Amino acid sequence: MNRPDSPAPACGCCGQPPVDASRRRVIRIASASLAAPLAMAALPAAAAAAGDRLVEEDAEGAPQPLRLSDLKPGKPLVAWPLDTQRGAPRDETRLNKIVLIRLTEAEMAADTRARAAGGVLAYSAVCTHQGCDVKTWLSKEKALVCYCHSSKFALLDGGAVVGGPATRALPAVPLRLEGDQLVIAGAFTAPPGGAPA
Ligand code: FES
Repeated sequence: MNRPDSPAPACGCCGQPPVDASRRRVIRIASASLAAPLAMAALPAAAAAAGDRLVEEDAEGAPQPLRLSDLKPGKPLVAWPLDTQRGAPRDETRLNKIVLIRLTEAEMAADTRARAAGGVLAYSAVCTHQGCDVKTWLSKEKALVCYCHSSKFALLDGGAVVGGPATRALPAVPLRLEGDQLVIAGAFTAPPGGAPA
C-alpha cells in the first residue's frame, strides 16, 4: 500500500543535505522507507472522513480496524483511514497517511486533548515543509521529526513546529472511540502535505 519512494531532497531553505539519522539517539518508526517529497497539487485531495476507522499501514490480509489496545503508550504507528463503506483503506494518496500515538492526556494542551481519544492523537504523517514522511520519534521531547531536513513537530501541542524549516503545524485529525475502536471524528484541521520544492 506504500507509494513509490525516491531520495530525499536538499533543504529548500538552506540547501543542506538530509541529516544522517544514525547520529540521532532516536526511536525510528518501523514502517515504510523514506518517502518522496510531495507537492499537494500533484495528487488527489486528502479524504479522511468522519466515521472512518483506521488500519495499520503495513497490515496484511483483510483490513482490521485499529483498537485502543493496539496502541502501545509512546510508540507511534502509521495508519490509513479505513473507508468502512468499501471496506478498504483510503490509500490512493500519501496525503491520507496518519501517524497515531498514545500519550498522557494530562500533558496535552487543551485543544490537543479535545482531539484525543483514550490518549491517542492522530496527525498527518506528511511533513508540511516539502512532503517527506515524518517518522522519527523523539520520546523525551514528545516530538516527531522529518528525516529530510529535520523539521520537528510537538505532538502534545497541536503539532506545532519547534524546529527546522517547516512553517506550518502538522495537521491533526480528531478521534473518538466506539467501544475499543478508534474512529475518525472529523477532517484534517488543515490541508496535509508540503509546499512545492
Ligand atoms: S520535507 Fe523538509 S523538513 Fe520535512
